[in-house]
Amino acid sequence: MTKNISSPFGNLDQYTGRILIGPYSHTLKNNLASAIAHFKALEQLGSALIPYIAAWLPEDGGNIWYEYAGKTLHSLLGFHTTEVAEALRDNIITRCLYRIQKNPPAIDKIIRDKSQIERMRPALRRMAERGGGVDAIYKFEVNSSPFWLKDLSRVEIHEREGVVLSYGTLIDVTKEMQLEESLIKVQTELEFHKGNLESLVEDRTRELQKAQLDVLTRLTQAASFRDGVTGDHIKRLSQYCAVLGSSCGLSKTANTVLYHAVPMHDVGKLGIADAILQKQGPLSDDEFEIIKTHCHVGSDLLSKGKSSLLRVAQSIALSHHERWDGSGYPQGLTDRQIPLASRITSICDVFDALTSARPYKKAWHFEEAVDEIRRQRNIHFDPKIVDLFVKKIPQIKKVYQDTPPV
Ligand SMILES: [Fe+2]
Ligand SMILES: [Fe+2]
Repeated sequence: MTKNISSPFGNLDQYTGRILIGPYSHTLKNNLASAIAHFKALEQLGSALIPYIAAWLPEDGGNIWYEYAGKTLHSLLGFHTTEVAEALRDNIITRCLYRIQKNPPAIDKIIRDKSQIERMRPALRRMAERGGGVDAIYKFEVNSSPFWLKDLSRVEIHEREGVVLSYGTLIDVTKEMQLEESLIKVQTELEFHKGNLESLVEDRTRELQKAQLDVLTRLTQAASFRDGVTGDHIKRLSQYCAVLGSSCGLSKTANTVLYHAVPMHDVGKLGIADAILQKQGPLSDDEFEIIKTHCHVGSDLLSKGKSSLLRVAQSIALSHHERWDGSGYPQGLTDRQIPLASRITSICDVFDALTSARPYKKAWHFEEAVDEIRRQRNIHFDPKIVDLFVKKIPQIKKVYQDTPPV
């Protein structure tokens, strides 16, 4: 060290850097010495900032060394100035770099882990040289306890001397970062519980839907049992309706609802006396009037339901005996006043009744029944749905053959 450089240290023993004793200009040495003196004074004032001066030679591999490292850093890390560079390098876990974005205005946070830092070391160094400084937060782990240091530095390039100096201050932000980490942990746990809760709600909803369907199926079975209608009628009916539902353009969900709602069309027969319901011979006008009440009875039974299944089932129960020309019952609705689900159901219900044997009639042949459906176009049935029914004969026939009516 030359005479005209005032040493910031009592003696050189305390100095562990390279510049003050190396082949550098007086100007550089003086500037560095005065910076070290300022930093020491700052520490003596009891500032929370931990000053440091790091240096590297870009032409010489860029390995960093410390010209000066505040005492607090030493007490925090337990390393001497000569070991600081190595200690920081070995104990770093993440580096969080903040960048201010102009368009759109935002603070960009980039987190790099240890292996990325290792890989990118020269690039990060060049970024600091180009950008004129570093604004980052480092996470370290020494003796199994993590701590965070915020680094703010200004980089000075001395091109003639081939050296770069980084004048920086570190501040211990462990408490703040621990808080941020616990917030992130809480948020992650909340997300996890929210996900769990959602799947629990989905499970419960599915269970409830299944339970509701079970109850309705039993109700349908009870009604069919009294009516003498077989389970196969219900099965075919649902399948015929699903074929027509999808060709009418119903969504998959709506068609599933239709599939499950259709079996309940005659649930109101539960309210009709056996003497009338099971009468073998022709019904008197009064008896037929009583039979007609099954639409309202069924609709009342299924009323006030909140699910789409119950709402569709109720509307089918009420209007599956309406006719396109207005001659049906109970309300005498015409054409599109009749809900679509009921227009579909009535075609399929009549078709299956025709192709099934009853105590008072034989089963019609498949083709005969199709002809009857065609004949009822614009009279009993919606013409468009009759056309779709005819178009879908192959699928209808498959359902008919898979579960043949008896
Ligand atoms: Fe009916
Ligand atoms: Fe039926």
